[in-house]
Amino acid sequence: MSDNQASLTAGGKTIEMPVNSGTIGPDVIDIRKLYAQTGMFTYDPGFTSTASCDSAITYIDGDEGVLLHRGYPIGQLAEHSSFMEVSYLLLNGELPSAAELADFSRTITRHTMLHEQLATFYRGFRRDAHPMAIMCGVVGALSAFYHDSTDIADPVHRKISSHRLIAKMPTIAAMAYKYSVGQPFVYPDNKLSYTGNFLKMTFGVPAEEYEVIPEVEKAMDRIFTLHADHEQNASTSTVRLAGSSGANPFACIAAGIACLWGPAHGGANEAALNMLKEIGTPDRIQHYIDRAKDKNDPFRLMGFGHRVYKNYDPRATVMQSTVREVFAALNVQDPLFETALRLEEIALSDPYFAEKKLFPNVDFYSGIILSAIGFPTTMFTVLFALARTVGWVAQWNEMISDPGQKIGRPRQLYTGPTARDYVPVSER
Ligand code: ACO
Repeated sequence: MSDNQASLTAGGKTIEMPVNSGTIGPDVIDIRKLYAQTGMFTYDPGFTSTASCDSAITYIDGDEGVLLHRGYPIGQLAEHSSFMEVSYLLLNGELPSAAELADFSRTITRHTMLHEQLATFYRGFRRDAHPMAIMCGVVGALSAFYHDSTDIADPVHRKISSHRLIAKMPTIAAMAYKYSVGQPFVYPDNKLSYTGNFLKMTFGVPAEEYEVIPEVEKAMDRIFTLHADHEQNASTSTVRLAGSSGANPFACIAAGIACLWGPAHGGANEAALNMLKEIGTPDRIQHYIDRAKDKNDPFRLMGFGHRVYKNYDPRATVMQSTVREVFAALNVQDPLFETALRLEEIALSDPYFAEKKLFPNVDFYSGIILSAIGFPTTMFTVLFALARTVGWVAQWNEMISDPGQKIGRPRQLYTGPTARDYVPVSER
């Protein structure tokens, strides 16, 4: 085996496969010719060892707890940057100049309104519909409202639809919330920042002036930044797979939202807060730790563990300090924060969690902050989807612009019946 070749002996044949290196991270064995050369597939359910694409957007080293966007560490971005700036970075590859940032923010601001007929669309949902169900439906429906930006072969269309998606997500999310509480929709206000505008559309009412609290705006913006992208996770891979068939970007992002909804992915922030509420006080923690360790109990510590991070999720560190900032700004306390801190402490000193390398992930503390700001738990995953839209859009654009892009089409290990003859119903 040479430095950049891997050899494999299978089915009585030895074949050589190229080994490709990225800028950082593990090398990959290019197995694309494997089937043609051996008649065999590889088998990797859950993609634990399979790279599905080249990407220059986000890098994660799960063992070291590193997350880089276009090379910049998430801790630095969360502390010094803003969601708009990080969005520009993810989409364009470089941090913007002051003029580029102003221009990008203006463009996004100008696209925040929704087609007025979409308000009627909302009214078709039950008032108690989960806002993620509404978001899936409304985002999918955008393709029926914005026909002029669905030609994916046209870079201008792709740019406009990307800007529309990023800009309209806060409006869609806020309207889903307003609909569920029976309050009138609040129109976007172009004087405000992306995040301030979202807070106003969510918590403002036409009867009163809405004052954005700067500390809350900053915390919310940071939460959006922390969720902006995360490499080839389940929902991003869903967006890429949907997009690989040539589907329009609105439909692809709706597919990503559907995947994000699950409790093993974006739904974990809702599940984590519900779990903390169920645990209640620190004296009940041990019981839940014991349940999480019990092989016969399906219970898992929500907000704990990650497919990629086998170390502290760097986003969880920032999230934990943001809880304190929000509590100070709003002058509130939440005993669940004490329960969460204690739970983390007990879990991290337990050999079960140490051996399996289970650490708090981004969702462990985010629910406590969002709850203090005033969001009901059903909105948590919606906020995640709002922020992740920029990552999805950046990854979708990267895929579509790749001249070697193909439709995604995994293979399988078939375990069903072999060929057999049809038997008429009268003879069965
Ligand atoms: N509590 C208790 N045990 C756990 C937990 C947990 N939260 N997570 C994993 N384990 C155990 C599993 O039981 C398994 O044990 P075993 O080897 O004895 O069978 C082992 O750790 C490995 O777990 P897997 O499920 O195989 O790991 P996988 O990479 O497939 O799953 C996942 C990762 C889905 C995130 C998992 O850790 C989990 O369900 N966590 C809780 C849900 C959650 O917080 N999800 C949010 C992820 S972050 C995000 O999407 C933004």
